[in-house]
Amino acid sequence: MSQKYIKPPVEIRYAKELEALKANDTARKPENWVLSPKAVRTFILGSKTPITYNGEKITVNKKFFGNDALVERCIITLAGSRGLMLVGEPGTAKTMLSELLSAAISGTSTNTVQGTAGTTEDMIKYSWNYALLLAKGPVKEALVPSPLYVGMSKGIITRFEEITRTPAEIQDSLISVMSDKVLNVPELEEDGLIFAKPGFNIIGTANIRDKGVNEMSSALKRRFNFETVNPVKDVRLEKQIIINEVEQTALANKIEMPVDTDVAELLAITYHELREGISESGIKIDKPSAVMSTAEAVSVFYQTMSNAWYYEDDKMSLKDLTENLNNAVCKDTKDDLERLKGYFNTVIKFKAEKIGGIWKEFYTARKYLK
Ligand SMILES: Nc1ncnc2c1ncn2[C@@H]1O[C@H](COP(=O)(O)OP(=O)(O)O)[C@@H](O)[C@H]1O
Ligand SMILES: [Mg+2]
Repeated sequence: MSQKYIKPPVEIRYAKELEALKANDTARKPENWVLSPKAVRTFILGSKTPITYNGEKITVNKKFFGNDALVERCIITLAGSRGLMLVGEPGTAKTMLSELLSAAISGTSTNTVQGTAGTTEDMIKYSWNYALLLAKGPVKEALVPSPLYVGMSKGIITRFEEITRTPAEIQDSLISVMSDKVLNVPELEEDGLIFAKPGFNIIGTANIRDKGVNEMSSALKRRFNFETVNPVKDVRLEKQIIINEVEQTALANKIEMPVDTDVAELLAITYHELREGISESGIKIDKPSAVMSTAEAVSVFYQTMSNAWYYEDDKMSLKDLTENLNNAVCKDTKDDLERLKGYFNTVIKFKAEKIGGIWKEFYTARKYLK
């Protein structure tokens, strides 16, 4: 792919796969959906055999790992009248999954409201272009539609990122839209009611580390089906996610060195053990309070790989890895540094003696923890 964007949206990144799936799609489909639920599932979970399209064989790789049933339920929710709310720890691919769903169902993943403490009702519903409003009065032309407005009028999905960061009373402006599927613009003299077209729905994401879902009103909660996205439990899968993600980012940034799979395994095991609070051999670990997500592991690995590419002639250095891990883990409290040191002095020490190899190098690098 030519490098036009730092991070192309899902529908551009996987344009070929989406086209191929569409051309071969004969399954039942809700009104206005680009792909059928079956094809959406294949896009996200991958196909066993390549799809033939324009005489070419297109491989559809699995993109979301760890819970196929959850993905199937999400798709079915979106075909119904309730919204979908993905909740979980940061870095569990909630955003990624919501982008994949939007791109496959509506052809776009960018119709998005980003929830913050400063999100206002205007940003959720609509606002005005004041120059036009003064010149022409409250006419449709002067109205600046929000992503919700666009979703309703086009019949596509609106993503609402980090919805629980938005004050609860602002979140509640979604209630009437979600139950009646109509948005009222009282200022407009005619056509003041915007009816949602089929295909419209909302995907919200919420981090349980933020203010939380508790403060969301029960009236709004009832308009959503909740799905909890958990961190990947399988170390081999986590290693594979790290490799896949780093490979793609490296390619996009023209870093042309192979991914060191041994280091990816070491990092996947480290993250897994620190997250679970217990080592493979049963040693108890005092868990850091920082988020030990796969996404963080990917970024620690990629950082180390960039360093290897630009400074170290492609050699992944465990000193850099340890320093990057240190920075990623010890953001919130000083106690996390002690916990990380404790982990090195028990579990990594044990692996260094028992397995040796890069674990020994990793153990030696503990002197860089600070
Ligand atoms: N189950 C998973 N399947 C595939 N990738 C995952 C998974 N969990 C985490 N990841 C990786 O971590 C990143 C998580 O990013 P993101 O979607 O921003 O998480 P969240 O929105 O939950 O904070 C993904 O882009 C992907 O690289
Ligand atoms: Mg997110």
